[in-house]
Amino acid sequence: MARSFITGPVQKITGEIRVPGDKSISHRALMFGALADGVTEVSGFLPGEDCLATLHALQSMGVEIERRDETHVRIKGVGLNGLQEPAHPLDMGNSGTAMRLFAGVLSGQLFDSTLVGDASLTGRPMERVASPLRAMGARIDTEEGYPPLKIYGGHDLHGIEYAMPVASAQVKSAVLLAGLYAPGGTTVIEPAVTRDHTERMLETFGWEIVRGEASVTIVSGGHLTGVNVDVPGDLSSAAFFLLAGCIAGEGEVIIDHVGLNPTRTGVLRIFELMGADIEIQEHRVEKGEPVGRIVARPSSLRGIRIPQEYVALAIDEFPVIFIAAALAEGETVISGAEELRHKESDRIRVMAEGLTQLGVDVVESPDGARITGGGLAGGTVDSAGDHRVAMAFAVGAARASGPVRILHTENVATSFPDFVSQAHKLGLQLEAQANGN
Ligand code: S3P
Repeated sequence: MARSFITGPVQKITGEIRVPGDKSISHRALMFGALADGVTEVSGFLPGEDCLATLHALQSMGVEIERRDETHVRIKGVGLNGLQEPAHPLDMGNSGTAMRLFAGVLSGQLFDSTLVGDASLTGRPMERVASPLRAMGARIDTEEGYPPLKIYGGHDLHGIEYAMPVASAQVKSAVLLAGLYAPGGTTVIEPAVTRDHTERMLETFGWEIVRGEASVTIVSGGHLTGVNVDVPGDLSSAAFFLLAGCIAGEGEVIIDHVGLNPTRTGVLRIFELMGADIEIQEHRVEKGEPVGRIVARPSSLRGIRIPQEYVALAIDEFPVIFIAAALAEGETVISGAEELRHKESDRIRVMAEGLTQLGVDVVESPDGARITGGGLAGGTVDSAGDHRVAMAFAVGAARASGPVRILHTENVATSFPDFVSQAHKLGLQLEAQANGN
């Protein structure tokens, strides 16, 4: 059902909140737990629709997964070769991560499978995973490069060395997961460092890997053993409220237990370059992943040229970075970010159109945009069903000069099911409406 947000300006944004579990880690905890021998208990699991798609797909391949409560799951691992043929196509919903990582896992099975998704996912490129998996010996059909994916089982895989043409943790992870089934080591070389949750989790589950500066090799013939995983809060979700703390007229936003993996913290570095008053108060490592407590305070933001080396490290935070740029003083230039056009929406186009609706001067380029800061007017924007675009505008609207209506917000539940209640805790004025467009 279509939904929308109606928001109003506020001066004070303050309080301490928790954000839900990391999406990337939650998907991987389920998959690794299923393929391991023994039991894996996951706490802090993200009960968002994307991760539930992964959970249901594993259940339909015979994996026993008990949901002890919303954020606590117990997986009875079936071992590397214990998945069973699903009776129906596996529905990945809105989730590119689920589809691309499963493509790797399913390439190594004896049975055939089909992966389908919603309209957004059906428009996202899949040759980027199909092509290296075919080079490993898999047989995969796409619909001219797009979902559904048909994966034929019973094809022996072999290790490859793969230099990725795009910086993508999903592609890297798909190849590494297929590498679990491939004799001979499998190496992935990255054009830029991307999130390394797969590598960390392989090590946590006991499989040997060799890491280079921009490469990772999975050593064949390893073993996965079930462990307990404590998923930290998702920095990509925290980023919305960290910006809220920075653009507020008064207050202080505190978020504890947030993942601070250095392959994810590009957004913090970009906000800091823009002049954001963001402090990391505690920093510790829990079960292989760095975690900390972050405080954001009212700041005078200025426009910047975003350094190339931060783009892949902040790839999911660009919607909220566009909003920061619109509320900053001066011009912000984003380049080298063509990948944004292949996310849950074309995030360059959708953000540029939405900001233009709110009176901001934005010039799109093929790989980014030039945004002239100075503030947001009230108005109506269409988030195009993209969860992160919807949440970014909802936060920016707190400092708009009039009410903002945001259309097609239904997919916020894919990554942040309690976004509205957390926003209320901080004093944001935000009303969710059903059938609102
Ligand atoms: C993810 C990798 C990123 C990111 C996505 C989650 C992952 O995608 O945008 O939200 O969990 O591996 P790409 O690897 O395609 O850039």
